[in-house]
Amino acid sequence: MTTAGALDGHRIVPVVVIDDPARAADLAHALAAGGIHCAEITLRTSNAVEAIRAMAEVPGFVVGAGTVVNLEQASAVLDAGAQFIVSPGFSAAIVDATRTRGAGVLPGIATGTEAMTALQAGLDVVKFFPADRLGGLATIRALAAPFPQLGFVPSGGVTALSAPEYLADPAVPAVSGSWMVGRDLITAGDFETITRLSRDAVAAIGAP
Ligand code: 3PG
Repeated sequence: MTTAGALDGHRIVPVVVIDDPARAADLAHALAAGGIHCAEITLRTSNAVEAIRAMAEVPGFVVGAGTVVNLEQASAVLDAGAQFIVSPGFSAAIVDATRTRGAGVLPGIATGTEAMTALQAGLDVVKFFPADRLGGLATIRALAAPFPQLGFVPSGGVTALSAPEYLADPAVPAVSGSWMVGRDLITAGDFETITRLSRDAVAAIGAP
């Protein structure tokens, strides 16, 4: 198992901004119907922790928390049932606290210095953020050359089109993005579209 923990084997990680926790379970079922069995709920809405708690109740579905930027948030989401934690940047304190609790962790990095910090913290997978703005796959390849022991999960600007390209690279175990799970779709309760976009994404990467 990698340090991403429960995310192992999941090739597409939906990045969710959800306003109404009552939609969380339906959202998990909609993603699962499309072949995606995990989600990162970002702490960008006031009810995100409640949404994590609700999604954690869905059998067979892996829920994590994103946009975790301090220890208080890390503790709250783990208490709510988050199985992994994603951050936009690197915090050794969050990494340590999360791993101590037995959950997966995926901190964001953007440079060689941060890659070294992640390796020194014992990590073998990191998020590459914001992926498209930093040069996308070409930059991941450049970073993977000196750091072959690290997996890079691009996040930020990943699209239905770029996801398969990223995933074809051996340095990329998974991609993360919001393209199949727009905030407006969730708010509108348009779970059919979420399922269709998820199914398309899974078909495009050629994996179950
Ligand atoms: C984010 O910052 O919300 C994630 O990196 C996902 O980005 P995206 O909405 O561009 O897919």
